Amino acid sequence: MNSLIKIDKLTKNYYTKEGEIKAINNISLDIYEGEIIALVGPSGCGKSTLLSIISNLDSNYSGQIIKKDNLKMAYMLQSDALLPWLTIYENAILGLKIKNDLTKENIDYVNYLFKLYNLDEFKNNYPKSLSGGMKQRVA
Ligand SMILES: Nc1ncnc2c1ncn2[C@@H]1O[C@H](COP(=O)(O)OP(=O)(O)OP(=O)(O)O)[C@@H](O)[C@H]1O
Ligand SMILES: [Mg+2]
Repeated sequence: MNSLIKIDKLTKNYYTKEGEIKAINNISLDIYEGEIIALVGPSGCGKSTLLSIISNLDSNYSGQIIKKDNLKMAYMLQSDALLPWLTIYENAILGLKIKNDLTKENIDYVNYLFKLYNLDEFKNNYPKSLSGGMKQRVA
């Protein structure tokens, strides 16, 4: 069976004024369809760095990452990154708005997700009035 994502000998160093930080050292991993994978390790061991690289947010590494063609990915960042001056609904539709893609179908889907995630009654709230878990669900 072919993997969805193949990570081969991935190494990532950060370079700062204080010197070199070895964030990921020669990791190889195959991820297959239907798998649920938990990445466990102490703070600072490189989990977020690995996810950033897999999500194409960071292309400065050595090694290889091979993804299945047309693979769709979603990435919930460690920090929810919501804009505090927008309501959670405005946050949720921001990407669609920027892409000029606020079609009826997409708006219906957003509304469906708000109900599914028990956020419907908080639509007009600002992020600061939500719990951590609620903010993550919005994000
Ligand atoms: N932008 C950056 N510049 C320099 N060093 C960084 C940067 N981002 C992360 N690091 C360093 O790389 C290492 C891995 O960080 P990373 O954020 O991947 O850890 P983590 O496993 O996600 O930790 P946590 O469990 O605390 O979220 C740490 O030593 C961190 O200090
Ligand atoms: Mg992290």
